Amino acid sequence: MAKTLVEHVRAGLDAERGAALAELFAALADAAKQIEARIRTAPLSDALGAFGHTNVQGEQQQKLDVFANDAVIGAMRALPSVGAVVSEEDDEPVVFEGKPDARFVVITDPLDGSSNLDVDVNVGTIVSVQAIVAGEDARAAALKPGTQQVAALYVNYGPATMLVYTVGKGTHAFTLRDGEFLLSGEHLAMPEQGPYYSVNEANAADFPQAVRSYLTKLRDGSMGAKYGSRYVGSFIADFHRTLLKGGVFLYPGTAKAPGGKLRLLYEANPLAMLAEQAGGKATTAGDANGGEVRRILEVVPTAPHVRTTLVIGSTAEVSAFGDVAAAAA
Ligand code: AHG
Ligand code: MN
Ligand code: MN
Ligand code: MN
Repeated sequence: MAKTLVEHVRAGLDAERGAALAELFAALADAAKQIEARIRTAPLSDALGAFGHTNVQGEQQQKLDVFANDAVIGAMRALPSVGAVVSEEDDEPVVFEGKPDARFVVITDPLDGSSNLDVDVNVGTIVSVQAIVAGEDARAAALKPGTQQVAALYVNYGPATMLVYTVGKGTHAFTLRDGEFLLSGEHLAMPEQGPYYSVNEANAADFPQAVRSYLTKLRDGSMGAKYGSRYVGSFIADFHRTLLKGGVFLYPGTAKAPGGKLRLLYEANPLAMLAEQAGGKATTAGDANGGEVRRILEVVPTAPHVRTTLVIGSTAEVSAFGDVAAAAA
């Protein structure tokens, strides 16, 4: 019988840490199952559509954004080990009072790819976990660089419902069957070079020159491979494909978002940890003025919702971008 998520988390860690993270992951898996059940039948209920509120990102919140947010926060509120939740959908951290044993802060994009909900295309839930160091308040704990993440995971609500996690000992995949996440891929290894690049081409005219030169390099065969293009518009779907097949996903600076669109704390950092644990890489794309390219996990967050440019995927493509950007600097 394939290992369950909780068995797998416990097996990889010392008893105390394993127990704490297994309990956290079990609660997150329960929230994911609530979200999955709601999404699977959404067109038959009033679950789709706008909630009628603009979030701190300036986005029209979807009803399922709010449902997913409530599911994750509700599950974390019940856990003595979780002191606070930082969420895409809440301006400020949701701090849980009266938890003297709190040791984790959970940072989440409760529903990634919301624009795909009403067209029945993959969406996901992304979670990053930071430790609360003795005496640290939750906000400070959340603003540590990605290198200090205790765990990272996402759920991909796709043809299968898959949960992919790391606690720093490899990247592992689980598939939901009869209410249980069962091991379906252990120590995933991202191919060194992949067949696809993934970027929103509609923004290409706005990309910095280094990014445009890089995309030309991917298209003209000078990377020694013929690339296909894939863009789902849900970060977890574009990442999951890149993790399994290889290649590169980019969200560079654009005229509308010179500093990039994706959020460092609950999109770039957790997926960068998962990528690196699978042998991949994740860097910034420089900014619209061609700023320096940095390893995502070393960027020090200045605020919960800070955005970043992003290049994430196989070592060949991410390193090649760094070379192009360095040459253009
Ligand atoms: P979210 O739905 O959590 O706000 O995230 C949406 C993000 C990400 O999932 C995706 O990669 C990106 O938005 C797509 O942006 P564009 O539509 O600008 O390409
Ligand atoms: Mn959003
Ligand atoms: Mn998102
Ligand atoms: Mn979201």
